Amino acid sequence: MRKPVIAGNWKLNKTINEAEGLARQLVDKLHHVTRTEIIIAPVFTALPAVARILAGSPLQLAAQNCYPQETGAFTGEISPLLLKDAGCKAIILGHSERRQLLAESDELINRKVHTTLASGLTAILCLGETLEERNSGAMFEVLTRQLKVGLAKLTPAQMTQVIIAYEPVWAIGTGKTASTDQAQEVHSFIRGLVMGLFNQATADNCRILYGGSVKPDNIDALMAEDDIDGALVGGASLKANDFCRIVEYQA
Ligand code: 13P
Repeated sequence: MRKPVIAGNWKLNKTINEAEGLARQLVDKLHHVTRTEIIIAPVFTALPAVARILAGSPLQLAAQNCYPQETGAFTGEISPLLLKDAGCKAIILGHSERRQLLAESDELINRKVHTTLASGLTAILCLGETLEERNSGAMFEVLTRQLKVGLAKLTPAQMTQVIIAYEPVWAIGTGKTASTDQAQEVHSFIRGLVMGLFNQATADNCRILYGGSVKPDNIDALMAEDDIDGALVGGASLKANDFCRIVEYQA
């Protein structure tokens, strides 16, 4: 019912040349895939070059961030409108690295979600708890706030252009994946929140991805869970063979 999504977040990696090389390998190996939506998110400077390589393939291009205005006096920023112009179909928003390193608030992220949707792009909204929040019992409260504020003032119709990515901060880049039970528990909780904020159909149709040390050897078990609709992959998305194996998971 929900089409799975496997997205690669390349973070701050790869020159234009290197990004083109990886994109070519992925198009070569994944051109036949129809079961799953495939998204890759290179750095800004590589977007137009990678867009040319992805043209005509099933792979879609995403950016890793944006500013919540279309144009204007915002030195150093980039807008959804211009990212769309560069070939993007989606934007990753509220990644924990931006929340932590750049102090992005839920309110700012909500404005970015609105601007992204207004430009006709898909918003991939990231949320997740730190280890301290999980251990202190604050996890569900934190996730509720991130989701409620992040999705504030959206309509059910707009929610069809939103993908949620649950990325526990303690599992990102650490090699520690959440267990399938831990991930499923939170995914089901998030789906319940979406139902409460919108309605049953919106919750049923909302894709919720898991992110945090997703690798070829754990993707199959994760995808077997009812509420895990795909993955947002960091490190393993930089290696063509690993990313392709993740896209071609067996569930
Ligand atoms: P890793 O897969 O490297 O843990 O990164 C996850 C992530 O942050 C994807 O956005």
